[in-house]
Amino acid sequence: MSRISTADLRKWRRRGFYSEGALVKFLEKNNYHAVRVPVSNPSLHPLPDVIARKGEHVYAFEVKNAGYYAYFPKQQMDKLFRFLDELIPLPIQQKHPILAAHLGKRWVFKELKWEDWKNDALPEQERILKRDKGNFDVEEGEKKTRSQTQELPGLIFDKMGKYWDAVTNTHPTEKEVEFIQKTLPNNGLTLDLCCGTGRHAILLAKKGWSMVGADLSKSLLIIAKDKMRRECVDFPLVRCEMQRFPFKDEIFSAVVSMFTSFGYLHSETEDLHSLREIARALRPRGAFLLDVVNRDYLLKVFKESDVADFGNFTMEEKRNLDESKTKMAGEWIITNKDTGEKLVLKHRLRLYTPQNLSEMLTLSGLQQKTWYGNYESENLASDSPRLIVLAEKTL
Ligand SMILES: C[S@@+](CC[C@H](N)C(=O)[O-])C[C@H]1O[C@@H](n2cnc3c(N)ncnc32)[C@H](O)[C@@H]1O
Repeated sequence: MSRISTADLRKWRRRGFYSEGALVKFLEKNNYHAVRVPVSNPSLHPLPDVIARKGEHVYAFEVKNAGYYAYFPKQQMDKLFRFLDELIPLPIQQKHPILAAHLGKRWVFKELKWEDWKNDALPEQERILKRDKGNFDVEEGEKKTRSQTQELPGLIFDKMGKYWDAVTNTHPTEKEVEFIQKTLPNNGLTLDLCCGTGRHAILLAKKGWSMVGADLSKSLLIIAKDKMRRECVDFPLVRCEMQRFPFKDEIFSAVVSMFTSFGYLHSETEDLHSLREIARALRPRGAFLLDVVNRDYLLKVFKESDVADFGNFTMEEKRNLDESKTKMAGEWIITNKDTGEKLVLKHRLRLYTPQNLSEMLTLSGLQQKTWYGNYESENLASDSPRLIVLAEKTL
């Protein structure tokens, strides 16, 4: 193996710095705010070479200067993701990890996929050749890459909008709310996390609870606002992600998450982020009520598909379990009977057991108190339809 001389190393670094400066100028010319991160030695900190922002999007660049091809090791790609994940509190569609190869006078950009990082599927190294086209256009910015970035899994509910409202209108919301009232203390502000169309939060507010509703879906929050007007109740509705929400530390006395809103995120780590956010926003000894489908029950009654009729539309559900039976891939096909229009929505749901949920709760600073198997407050059993846990924030 040939040894690289100190003089060569210095020359490479100088070329690298030159390209970083050139990229900042190129970005500024295209109306980005851009800065070069002046790190003179390789470091373990998750810092990109160049950080840029345009509108509501943030871009982290790893820059290489080369003649005909540039190599990007996995560790440097990983730093871009870590920087965006740990330091930029925006949804992932607005965060762009990009490899920038400066090959002679030509720039080739490659935007990396969040999915690859989350599934630990980044290659050991990425190679960009001078003849490559790349997949990111600085002039177009996020407009070009939007279709390449991964969509937030929860947005399937947003796309369903009024159909989802019709589906949940068939649920025994009164009974579910009575269960919440029996189980949670009403002694402060309560967050309905992933409130959807607000069916629980609105009823609780009507019964005198101080509520805040939070959900990612704009279309469902609009439906919720409309219902609130009709029901003459008012409380804040906040559009945000459950993995990073904008509420102050220790502001809520209780948080409730109803009807399997937990488990759709890309990874278990993100689910954990969400539990940590809940713990952060709960006051000491604050209560958390989590309601998801019971995996044991689902496996017992498992059907690969079925169809439900909701009057003016049908909803067909196709289900597929992975080998370990801990994840279910689903497809909902909604057919509008009046127009014949079809809406196909795919999703993945992690199926939790009491064991792994309780581990995750503990890791997040939440202590399990009681397990229930249905909204009648019966104890959890393997044939219970729901897996409901009441937890408390540890001091
Ligand atoms: C199964 S629905 C339950 C809605 C409501 N709790 C109910 O019982 O009617 C899941 C809800 O979680 C919301 N959601 C999904 N992913 C989310 C995320 N990352 N952050 C916040 N809300 C999310 C969806 O928009 C949807 O309203």
